Formats: sequence, C-alpha cells, structure tokens
Amino acid sequence: MTKHVSPEAQADLFRDDILAGLLKDRKVVSSKWLYDDVGSHLFEAITELDAYYPTRTEISILERNAKKYRRLPGARGAMVELGSGSSRKTDLLLDAFPDLSVYMPIDISANHLKAAAERVRRAYPSLAVIPVAADFTQPFGQLPLLPELPVLIFFPGSTIGNFEKSEAAALLSNIRSAMPEASLIIGVDRPKDAQVLQDAYDDPAGITAAFNQNLLQRINRELDGTFDLAAFAHKAVWNVSESRIEMHLESKAQQTVTIAGETVAFAKGETIHTENSHKYSEDAFEGIAHEGGWQITDVDSDENNWFSVYTLQAA
Ligand SMILES: C[S@@+](CC[C@H](N)C(=O)[O-])C[C@H]1O[C@@H](n2cnc3c(N)ncnc32)[C@H](O)[C@@H]1O
Repeated sequence: MTKHVSPEAQADLFRDDILAGLLKDRKVVSSKWLYDDVGSHLFEAITELDAYYPTRTEISILERNAKKYRRLPGARGAMVELGSGSSRKTDLLLDAFPDLSVYMPIDISANHLKAAAERVRRAYPSLAVIPVAADFTQPFGQLPLLPELPVLIFFPGSTIGNFEKSEAAALLSNIRSAMPEASLIIGVDRPKDAQVLQDAYDDPAGITAAFNQNLLQRINRELDGTFDLAAFAHKAVWNVSESRIEMHLESKAQQTVTIAGETVAFAKGETIHTENSHKYSEDAFEGIAHEGGWQITDVDSDENNWFSVYTLQAA
C-alpha cells in the first residue's frame, strides 16, 4: 500500500496518470483523482441530496443490522475501513461495537481523512485510531502492522462499483490476500429504474456537476492546466449493457488544453470518462466476490432492494 507518499511523489503520480489518460484515443481518468480536498467536500454535499439515494439507503441498512454485525470476530478487534471519506457511516458500527479496540481508516484524500480521524478520536476516546493516507489499489504490503487482533474490513459507499468488473475482482483478491482471516462488510448498489439512477448522478442543483468539474479545476491548480470549465459539460449516462452509470465531461467545442506543458486536443462532443458506478444484482456481485476469493455469508437490503450490504469471508 502506498502509504504516506511524499507530496512530490503524489504530484508525479497525478501528472503521469492524468496525461496518460488524456492522451488515449478514448480519454479516461481514474475516479480516485476526483477526491482532493474540494472533491471530498463536494462528495459530502452530494450525499445530502434528496436524489442521492445510496447514502441514506445504506445507512438505513446499517442502522438495522449493526448489532448483528457485532457477532463477527473483528468487531472485538480491529476495523479497517477502505475509502472511509468522512467516516460518518462508521459511527453506526462504532456505536454497536463497544469492544472494538483499533480503527484504521484508509483514504486517498489525505486532509479529509485527517479531519475525519480527529473527529472519530474525539467521539470514541478509548479507540486507537490509525488513519492511513493511501491508495488501496496499490499493494497492501506497507500497511502499518495491526496488533494480533481479529480484523473486520468495512468497505461502504458502493466504492467497489467504481472499478471495472475485472479490477473489482482483483481488488477483492488483493484485500483477501492481505487480510485472509478477516470478515468483509461491503456496500453494493443495485440496478434500478433508469430515471432514479440518472437523477442521483445529475442533480438539478448541479452539485454532482461541480464534483465532476472539480477534476478540471484540480488539473488547473496542480498541473498548470488551462481548462475553461465553461467549455465542458457534466454528463451522466446509464449504460444498460454494462449496468453502470458513467460520468463524463463533454467538450462543448473543438479546443486544445495545456497540462503540465503538454497539449491535449479535444474534438467537439469528445468526452473524458471520469467515473463508473456499477450496479450489481446479487448474482452479479456473487460472481465478482467469488472471483476475488470470497464467499457471501450474509446479505442485508432495504425494503426497495435498492442497495445491499454483504458480509463476506474468504472462500
Ligand atoms: C464513493 S466515496 C465513499 C465515501 C464513504 N465511504 C461513504 O460511504 O460515503 C469513495 C471514497 O473512497 C476514496 N477513494 C477512492 N479511490 C480510492 C483509492 N484508490 N484509494 C483510497 N481511497 C480511495 C475517496 O476519497 C472517497 O472518500
């Protein structure tokens, strides 16, 4: 796991990844780069929107089942959270797990992670809180050693849906290899009415658009970019055959942009593909979990069957 990467190394990774993605025939940027300080705050604002059903739906499932998850051995040991963001959902588990001794949130958005970890420390003073600013798609080898405790991994937010199916299975496999004895509680969004999905990713207040466009501002800020934000439109597209919402930034005109000294050309209508959010039926998710070396031992959903929280163990 790339832990505490120096700001210089992180800046190099960002530049190389952005340029590689924007110089492809089909321009694409990993959604992990949407989350700098500004992006993390905008994501929090998205989770408050009426149209953004995933957060409140997952919270309702966690509220109903947190006490049941207390039976997992890791609830009396260490909880590792992947993509912890503001750690708000975590409180539901922390309240239900009085015997938990260690909480290790892992997130790529370092300042946001630090603030969230400080809040958790204040709210749960007997808990050892060990934040790790890292990219969880990198090998987990450099994670700080956990004491000899049972581990529970918490991976909420349907963040697993941001990965291509083969990448999702590979990530689950890496997690399993790093923590083979652990249980994994993972939140996964499900397919549903196309309009509900569309509204969740393209709200009328334009918060999701601002979240998406912040990527261009981030490139301007950190890579001397010359993006004109008004020249790119936020697009959310339901791709039925892939069962995923795609977010794109569409160039409104033929134009060139300079990034870190390189020129990138855009045709009118050309897009940068900035995020996927796959929606998995139970069968589809079971296939990915299985490919990643996990078996589903429990599944909890809401009354509409819009979202599921799975409990997994190594197969
Ligand atoms: C969809 S948000 C979910 C946030 C929160 N867990 C929730 O459920 O509301 C994804 C979170 O994962 C983090 N993230 C995305 N890609 C990551 C990566 N490759 N490594 C570490 N964190 C990542 C983001 O910074 C963000 O906090």
